[in-house]
Amino acid sequence: MSSGEGGIADKVNNAALLRISNLEVSFGGIVAVDNLSFEMAPGEVCGLIGANGAGKTTIFNCISRIYTPSGGSITFDGNNILDLKARDMAGIGIGRTFQNLVLFPSLSVRENIEAGAHSVGKSGFFADLLRLPIASATRRDIQERAQEMIELLGLSPIAEEPIGSLTFATRKRVELARALASDPKLLLLDEPAGGLSHGEVDELMERVREVRDRFSLAMLIVEHHLNFVMRISDRVVAVNFGRKIADGKPSEVSVNPAVLEAYLGTAA
Ligand SMILES: Nc1ncnc2c1ncn2[C@@H]1O[C@H](COP(=O)(O)OP(=O)(O)OP(=O)(O)O)[C@@H](O)[C@H]1O
Ligand SMILES: [Mg+2]
Repeated sequence: MSSGEGGIADKVNNAALLRISNLEVSFGGIVAVDNLSFEMAPGEVCGLIGANGAGKTTIFNCISRIYTPSGGSITFDGNNILDLKARDMAGIGIGRTFQNLVLFPSLSVRENIEAGAHSVGKSGFFADLLRLPIASATRRDIQERAQEMIELLGLSPIAEEPIGSLTFATRKRVELARALASDPKLLLLDEPAGGLSHGEVDELMERVREVRDRFSLAMLIVEHHLNFVMRISDRVVAVNFGRKIADGKPSEVSVNPAVLEAYLGTAA
């Protein structure tokens, strides 16, 4: 398999899936995101790197509508998403994982993943409640989608275990499965390798590669493990103090003097 660096220019020339333009976020006097712009093509895997506090999670929180930026625009599939709410995101095709795990500890692996698959269903809450025929079809869709993700992420042996009994690395995989279960077009992964051992990071890399190859979904990945980001991404965006300092192929960004200086604390 290639490193994924081919054909990027072609992809970017097509209509953008995600377009962030002149994004601004401040908290009191702190400017967390400063006039930031970048685009992602459908199916593109984009790494987002930067030192602690650079603004990466804040950018995710704007895309997933947890924060409302003070300036700029975000479009997804050509539509302005700043008019939408966080709860609408899975329905339009944006899924995410969190820097700190957000799972239901007393529910099983399967139940957590089924919760993520809910937006796949075509029926609404009332149809579920009234057990209309469409709701049972939807229930089946949810179960099938969850089962597919359980198998894809190697979770079958522990599918009925409660989340609380699992190791951190396994819970991270469950969170990935849950985000995928909503059938996103864009998946936002916030530090998927955070807290994992060396071997676990390699395993996660394989899983993420399988996901990338199997579904043609775009992924925006925040990660401090540079080796992971550089190997998995088609493109890498680097930020420092909320500003974009580099945007290009992993091989270019990893030797960019501004990135080395700002992110690695090494003079080029
Ligand atoms: N809810 C908030 N209220 C006030 N300040 C915030 C809030 N969220 C983030 N910040 C500030 O905004 C800046 C960017 O934070 P952010 O969490 O986006 O960084 P990050 O790049 O994700 O860092 P890390 O790598 O440590 O996760 C930091 O200065 C942070 O303290
Ligand atoms: Mg963060």
